[in-house]
Amino acid sequence: MRHCITPSDFTLKELDDLFDLAADIEKNPEKYAHACDGKKIATLFYEPSTRTRLSFEAAMMNLGGKALGFAGASQSSAAKGESVADTIRVVSCFADIAAIRHNKEGAALVASQFSDIPVINAGDGGHEHPTQTLLDMMTIRQLKGRLSNFTIGICGDLKFGRTVHSLVKTMARYEGVHFVFISPPELKVPDYIIDLLDEKGYTYEECIKLEDVITKLDLLYMTRVQRERFFNEEDYIRLKDFYVLTEKLMRSAKKDMYVLHPLPRVNEISVEVDKDPRAAYFKQVQYGVYVRMALILTLLGIRVD
Ligand code: CP
Repeated sequence: MRHCITPSDFTLKELDDLFDLAADIEKNPEKYAHACDGKKIATLFYEPSTRTRLSFEAAMMNLGGKALGFAGASQSSAAKGESVADTIRVVSCFADIAAIRHNKEGAALVASQFSDIPVINAGDGGHEHPTQTLLDMMTIRQLKGRLSNFTIGICGDLKFGRTVHSLVKTMARYEGVHFVFISPPELKVPDYIIDLLDEKGYTYEECIKLEDVITKLDLLYMTRVQRERFFNEEDYIRLKDFYVLTEKLMRSAKKDMYVLHPLPRVNEISVEVDKDPRAAYFKQVQYGVYVRMALILTLLGIRVD
């Protein structure tokens, strides 16, 4: 039985296969419409979500299956003190696969160790968000036609942004990726990520001002400041509008510099940028459904010929 706890659970070949499958699903949705007839996904969301939970549920329904679950720890027996280990044992009796989001780092890994069904990490605290990375990569591959030889700017809350951690660790496995980390000093990318890049000899730079580097970027990955991970509100208020990507800033970027964002957006991308053809953040959401359909099929070992 396979789980998806971190993108490193997959080899580069397996990632390519997954993206190929997602691309085929996009082209031929009817071919997959009954692939999961009779199957169920449980979405165990202890933390708020719009995209990830609904996208997993839509993915299973598009495959002919059904979805059940809870949205919020207070809706589950976690409110009475039940452990993640016990919850997943119970859910294994009801569903064929589970996607879990939790505020504690490592919760999905723990769930996988006690589960009788495949477990997907749908975000664990400030740690990782592997399926967001899969859809980010799928979007880049579809828009740029490759996953290597880029200068990618990653801007915003690089400390608490779990999507950033999964994305950097995964993109660093491809050839010729140069990272430009753009953040206020308080929200710099964690040392363990920098150590990993140093260890492997990858090139990166760190800076504070987006306007200083935007002209050289092939891709720009914006992120929001993660209010829910701050220890005090004052710091959040001081940092929340540190970056705002505007039409004016976009004018100095390359003509094919796509802008990605895991969403939700707060203020860090001005709504006037939405009409720019380089704004790819709503396309990412659509690719998220195809990638999650591909992941469900892969983890359940279902082949559609
Ligand atoms: N990108 C993302 O994880 O969005 P949600 O928090 O709405 O699931």
